[in-house]
Amino acid sequence: MVVDQTLEKVREIIEAVEKEQSLEEGDILLNCLHRVQDVYQNFVPSEAAELVAERLKVPLSKVYEVLTFYTMFSTKLRGKYVIRVCNSLPCHVTGGSQIIDALFKELKVGFGGTTEDGLFTLEKTGCLGLCGVGPVIMINDEFYGNLTVDRVAEILADYRARGEAGV
Ligand code: FES
Repeated sequence: MVVDQTLEKVREIIEAVEKEQSLEEGDILLNCLHRVQDVYQNFVPSEAAELVAERLKVPLSKVYEVLTFYTMFSTKLRGKYVIRVCNSLPCHVTGGSQIIDALFKELKVGFGGTTEDGLFTLEKTGCLGLCGVGPVIMINDEFYGNLTVDRVAEILADYRARGEAGV
């Protein structure tokens, strides 16, 4: 079954992270969860969280504490591309609300929603540290600034093409 193969990958990730000498103890858990989340396409399912806790010998409650504290993690299935929209004031005053409206209209979902095709999950976030080029969004690990409504449509079209190409 696919799940077993994926859990095998999770085991490999944990072993690889544990061997990285440069990581401090606290970073090992965070690093594992980041990589595990990539394997599952933007979320960490319970079976993977349990395996991480068991292998790293940390309480499962600690793993969930981290998973629920950081907004970049999710324990619920999300789209292939997670769009995070900066909702802080500097982005808001440079046109952030038009960008949010454009995303609602293009994706036909609200915050926390995932598009029917499973490609996009829309989330809001606080300042992404790029206020000088607001309004700003982040899609997975990529940042996009100086956004306009037209640029949002272009970016989404590009990601849809990537999704169709399986990238
Ligand atoms: S306020 Fe949007 S990036 Fe800082």
